[in-house]
Amino acid sequence: MSKPNNLESLWMPFTPNKTFKKDPRIIVGAKDMHFISEDNRQILDGTAGLWCVNAGHGRKKIQEAVSEQLETLDYSPPFQFGHPKQFELANRLAEIFPEGMNHVFFSNSGSEAVDSALKIALAYQRARGHATKTRLIGRERGYHGVGFGGISVGGMVKNRMYFGSMLSGVDHLRHTHNPSVNAYSHGQPEHGAELADDLERLVQLHDASTVAAVIVEPIAGSTGVLPPPKGYLQRLRDICTKHDILLIFDEVISAFGRLGKATGSDYFGITPDIICCAKGLTNATIPMGATVVQDYIYESMLENADAPIELFHGYTYSGHPVACAAALATLDIYQDEGLFDNAAKMSPVIEQAAHSLKGTKNITDIRNLGVIAAIELEPRGSTVGARGFETMKKAWEMGLMVRANGDTLAFSPPLIVNESQVDEMFTTVKKAIEQVD
Ligand SMILES: Cc1ncc(COP(=O)(O)O)c(C=O)c1O
Repeated sequence: MSKPNNLESLWMPFTPNKTFKKDPRIIVGAKDMHFISEDNRQILDGTAGLWCVNAGHGRKKIQEAVSEQLETLDYSPPFQFGHPKQFELANRLAEIFPEGMNHVFFSNSGSEAVDSALKIALAYQRARGHATKTRLIGRERGYHGVGFGGISVGGMVKNRMYFGSMLSGVDHLRHTHNPSVNAYSHGQPEHGAELADDLERLVQLHDASTVAAVIVEPIAGSTGVLPPPKGYLQRLRDICTKHDILLIFDEVISAFGRLGKATGSDYFGITPDIICCAKGLTNATIPMGATVVQDYIYESMLENADAPIELFHGYTYSGHPVACAAALATLDIYQDEGLFDNAAKMSPVIEQAAHSLKGTKNITDIRNLGVIAAIELEPRGSTVGARGFETMKKAWEMGLMVRANGDTLAFSPPLIVNESQVDEMFTTVKKAIEQVD
């Protein structure tokens, strides 16, 4: 295993570069539920990397599919030409996504899947004769990646404040986090469905004739795990339908089994107009994103096109053959190993293990849904995030990867996780929390 001798040239994303390079955490290998650190320790992967290695690491079937694809067809241009695997993959996704969502647009990341969704929403409104519907509505604390579209509708302050005025004509719903009434909820919180009525207020303010789409994560992840209050998503769906506004679910985290079903939409029983996904689509082996739309969107775009090309959008690597091969092998693994069912089975185990930490020092809230859990720590004085960061580092030293979003520790292990690994995750993090001031 090679050891880098100079860390200076790389500008690492979403990382305090100066601090990291003084005390780096280098990963040199991974298999199943574990990473291998540079000093040859097994690190239990409590986060599936970045919520993406849903089938666990080092899957042979994906490796073989990728190698074979590289030998047969390494690349083919996606504009005006096709290759078999992208059609096959689109069909496979249509089978497992909600009914009526049979059209898939490929990209290379969650951010691009989101930008594609926003652009499709605007182009669709215009194509069907509603050209004044141009406004996009996101939500406070939402995370939709880092493109200008995604940060405009997103609601995480630091991801927005450094980057100018972003897209115009964007508004936001309030976030749903309300620990004063919902702290230590098991699964979806009881209170907060009425927050969806913010959309009614925004419609009163802007008029429905100016609103193209609303985008939310069905369960907010990167902001620190916020399961939707009971009834919230249904209310949002109803208001969108009432005012002829498209509802976009950003399922970059929640698709591919994280909630025990193929999609969060399926889990919550709410069908949006557009779904964005990425991450677990290829088990994170090859970058890929997808935007899946309802038939009426695709059909209307084709019917009403004012040029031979109905959507002036696409990426050099849309539906890349190697990514498609990786995704098809990944979907086979999910199906053959019943991993979505395993996720559903592990959900109560994770819930019980996470909530057993109630009462541990500095913990102010514990949240969970599916194979996702979060432990919120009291910030240390005014230094928000320091305690979370130090606990993440302590856990790493103890052989566990957790993710710190500010002072919230997030867990989202691969869906192959078993009971003893869940136990190890929460036992280790408890010790780490206890050892940090
Ligand atoms: C809900 C959601 N949308 C979009 C993204 C962005 O995905 P990517 O980093 O692949 O661009 C993420 C990444 O965490 C996400 O959680």
